Amino acid sequence: MNDLSPKTIADYVAAANKPLTDPAMNRQIGSGRATFELYHFGLSVCSQKVRMTLFEKGAPFISHDINIFPPINQNYQPDYVRLRMQGGRGRDLVDGYTGRSSTGSEGFDPCVVPTLVDLDSEKVLIDSQAICAHIDAAYQGGSELIPARLKSEIEREIAIVDTSPHPAILYGAHPDGDYRPEMLKREMPGIYDRKIMKLMEGRSLSVGHPRLQAAYDAKIRKEAAAKKYVATDEMMRGALREVQALIAALDERLADGRTWICGEDFTMADIQWAISLFRFKWLGMAFLWTGEHALNETVHSTVAAYGTRLFARDSFQQAIIAWPTNPPTEFVMDHYPQNEDTGAKRATRDATVKGHGRDIREENLTQAVLNTNKNAPNPRAKQVIAAFARHLHAFLEEVQPTEKEWEYGIDFLTKTGHLSTGGRQEFILLSDVMGATARVDMINNRAHDGATENSVLGPFFVEDRPTFENGAQISPGIDGPPMFFNSRVVDTDGQPVAGARVDVWHSDDEGNYDIMMPGQSQATMRGLFFADANGRVYFNSVLPESYPIPDDGTVGVLLKAANRSIIRPAHVHVRIEAPGFRRLTTMLFLEGDKYLDSDPVFGVKQSLVMNFEQRHDQRQPDGKKLPSPCFCVDYDFVLSRAS
Ligand code: BEZ
Ligand code: FE
Repeated sequence: MNDLSPKTIADYVAAANKPLTDPAMNRQIGSGRATFELYHFGLSVCSQKVRMTLFEKGAPFISHDINIFPPINQNYQPDYVRLRMQGGRGRDLVDGYTGRSSTGSEGFDPCVVPTLVDLDSEKVLIDSQAICAHIDAAYQGGSELIPARLKSEIEREIAIVDTSPHPAILYGAHPDGDYRPEMLKREMPGIYDRKIMKLMEGRSLSVGHPRLQAAYDAKIRKEAAAKKYVATDEMMRGALREVQALIAALDERLADGRTWICGEDFTMADIQWAISLFRFKWLGMAFLWTGEHALNETVHSTVAAYGTRLFARDSFQQAIIAWPTNPPTEFVMDHYPQNEDTGAKRATRDATVKGHGRDIREENLTQAVLNTNKNAPNPRAKQVIAAFARHLHAFLEEVQPTEKEWEYGIDFLTKTGHLSTGGRQEFILLSDVMGATARVDMINNRAHDGATENSVLGPFFVEDRPTFENGAQISPGIDGPPMFFNSRVVDTDGQPVAGARVDVWHSDDEGNYDIMMPGQSQATMRGLFFADANGRVYFNSVLPESYPIPDDGTVGVLLKAANRSIIRPAHVHVRIEAPGFRRLTTMLFLEGDKYLDSDPVFGVKQSLVMNFEQRHDQRQPDGKKLPSPCFCVDYDFVLSRAS
């Protein structure tokens, strides 16, 4: 954040825009002078209403399509929050959660989208209804969406749409049948914890800015309350009942055969309904009007027909269907162009051609590449390919490689591939040293409720290992200082997890694993244990030492170029599995190791750094004497329950 406090709205905008450099995500939409700068997100209902309004009016705008999913959360960046706060002056900060997203009922949320800046009047608007109304009034073009003669009717209708508990339905699963799309089932569990973690980061970046910190605090309180809300079965049932009542009442109002909700004029109220109805369908809730579900068997055919008219509207098609960061779910594929015939016989070159434009230049190349992906039938593949294309082009934009450099890059990856065989996997090592393995591990293994943190698996786990009883010596004949590993496996309430399968593996005091030792055909310094009735697992071995990762391939070249350490700090790997619990893959590091701060594969977490204390004349839990002296570590592994 800047030290000098920005003063004008233009300064706040400039600061907020600084990190928004991806040309595919930050671009002008429409031609002519753009006076609106919009911060929004493809999937957000409130953003969708604003986008549809802009397209309906034909107003050009500068689009900042910001990513609001954890852990990216561009909406939590302090400079974005500061810009948004300019529009929230005089309003009470959000405090708690109502399951709705309306600013009226919730209070001012400083960290959400959309935010609109009117560059001409230097206004910052923070709530989608006010933004839509402002665009309608301020933009001299398109037809009026809130004509004076229908104003009160439109406002009444918008107020009704606004009571829809969209966030509750989006974030929670219905207790009597989880109809949600696969994408949500996958993304939503744990989302509040991830949001809160990201907000804490934003808060810590705002030290010395008390108003900003107060804003983060309020938002953190809201997300904590939201986490509780969706957990309640009764509230989720209530949310569905509310939506059913909304649709039934809408059906009644449309019963006189009107084309649009306020009569024969298409108005702002229709935009609100278009977005809302499509969201229900996107969520797998078209049953609200088709009646084809155990949770709702009533058919509302006038609502169905109204939806069809709304979804055919050009502004809807542009703002929602064609909008690149608004992926479909399996429930709305009928709105997306399909590859009609993929049959082998007709899969000629011509059959696959879908135009993406012929006048391809620097400024539209990324979009042209993205266009080629528009008809991808699998939504997940579509999302991944689009993100790859966007980031690749943003990377090239930033780096501006010479042709020679690009050739070098291709050659680097080719060699990395050639070095990747069964035993030596240079691509995985590349993923390790770039932190990608650590990130994928973090995304998929977030610690819950005080559970032990995960770390990377590494290449030295092998299935072929002996099983041991507690107290065993797992490295007979291996030289090195004696180590006694004394642990328990417990749940998040501290209760033992008897019978848990515990795998351990580590290097010797020269940093070698058994599989690297010439002449060592037997597995050693590794083994499988089963936790006893008290959750205990304990064994004897030798103290591990730090060791270098392989540096004789392309990864070595990269590490040398960056002047990085190749040494992993000493550690003992542990993997624990127990029915009903999440699998824990982790390692304990030795306090005092000088490489703890420069682990080349980013596996170190402070909570995993332990004192392997040198002790004399000790006994293990079964009473047997330990060697003296002996390096002893005591640790309780805490497992979280599988959800
Ligand atoms: C390991 O600790 O065994 C390891 C992890 C990632 C890369 C190389 C080694
Ligand atoms: Fe290791």
